[in-house]
Amino acid sequence: MLQCGHRGLASIAPENTLAGLEAAHQYGLSWVEIDVQLTQDNRVVLFHDQQLDRCTNSRGLFGQHSWQQLSQLDAGSWFSAEFANERLVLLSDYLIRAAQLNIKVNIELKLYAQGDALPLAQQVSQVLAQRLIPETQILLSSFNIATLAYMQQWQPMIKRALLVKRIPHNWQRLLQSLDGHALHCDYRHLTCSKAHEISTAGYQLNCYTVNSQHQANTLASWGVNMIFTDNPLRQAPGAQHLV
Ligand code: G3P
Ligand code: MG
Repeated sequence: MLQCGHRGLASIAPENTLAGLEAAHQYGLSWVEIDVQLTQDNRVVLFHDQQLDRCTNSRGLFGQHSWQQLSQLDAGSWFSAEFANERLVLLSDYLIRAAQLNIKVNIELKLYAQGDALPLAQQVSQVLAQRLIPETQILLSSFNIATLAYMQQWQPMIKRALLVKRIPHNWQRLLQSLDGHALHCDYRHLTCSKAHEISTAGYQLNCYTVNSQHQANTLASWGVNMIFTDNPLRQAPGAQHLV
């Protein structure tokens, strides 16, 4: 079973930063997950929350700030003084560094308003069209089905995963309609039989956010392909690989 650094590697370095990518590399991870949103001026930037308050030295809505404003913020001191110089990062710059480090990236398209689906998908598609990293090293995911449908239309060669908390009864129909590759779910709502059903249907199954070795071992024994984790765990038995 593979491990994917959640938001970079969120227990080791401030989330969704280049420092987190470097940390994932140092710990030998082959995958990271990141969250991306649009700035007010339509730049694609790594950020999880709707508000700036928790992860920067500023306040207010992320999406109401320009990239010029956001690029000045301290995105590391909240985590530890050691990261005081850390800045927010454009998706394009992040992908260039990930390619250099040979790390695969799960890009979660993060939406806080339904109306953002089209512009976010358009801008992410434009970044991906630059092929800053081989397309085989990218996996797209979102809780928002419309966003994934846009990505299917515009970047069909890049794999897509449907992100859910609880697995819906129509999960297979949804994945079929998106020509999806994987289902990403909250491990707390997964059962062994549901994991088996998904694997048997030929889909990858990846679970968030798993920070205990015991839980990782259980999920590996159920055939889960990859876990998202804030901290590196020992390799779990029962290895199955994502790609
Ligand atoms: O993509 C898996 C996981 O990151 C989804 O939840 O809130 O951490 O983005 P969240
Ligand atoms: Mg995420």
